[in-house]
Amino acid sequence: MKNIILIGFMGVGKGTIARAFCAHMEMVGLDTDDIIESMENRSIKEVFAAQGEAYFRAKESQVASWLSKHVKNTLISTGGGFFMVENLNKIGTVVYLKSSFEGILERILTHPNAEQKLAKRPLFADKEKAKALFDKRAPLYEKKADIVLHVEGKSIQDIVKELKKRL
Ligand code: S3P
Repeated sequence: MKNIILIGFMGVGKGTIARAFCAHMEMVGLDTDDIIESMENRSIKEVFAAQGEAYFRAKESQVASWLSKHVKNTLISTGGGFFMVENLNKIGTVVYLKSSFEGILERILTHPNAEQKLAKRPLFADKEKAKALFDKRAPLYEKKADIVLHVEGKSIQDIVKELKKRL
């Protein structure tokens, strides 16, 4: 089976959906932010603060090339900017988890650990800037996607079922 790559904006639920899908399908999952945190032995927030965004993007490219060479049969969830790496589609089937910005904001703000969710995402610190980033990226996610999955207002269970059907 080809890898499945989940892309989409920060907070859309890539990690949550990935875990539910892996459990349902009894398959293995990887997360590009987790890989970078283990390569760096520090959090994404610390990487951004110490080395800046360009360094982080270079790490994402390194991870992308490793994934395309060495990983198969895996569900890969990604950081919100990972879709910009070269040859994304060579890694596997790209699935865009689509929601409006308002839907994402509501999902984050109604989460019991909302503050923690926001604090670990440096690019979400300023809501207006995050919205501008969302507007810029939304059409780009669509362009890279083999499958566009609308997730807003849907239960995780329904999203998992729909993804399974559409692969
Ligand atoms: C980023 C999204 C984050 C993380 C980093 C940059 C982005 O991941 O990779 O803070 O550029 O959108 P999540 O999408 O899991 O928040």
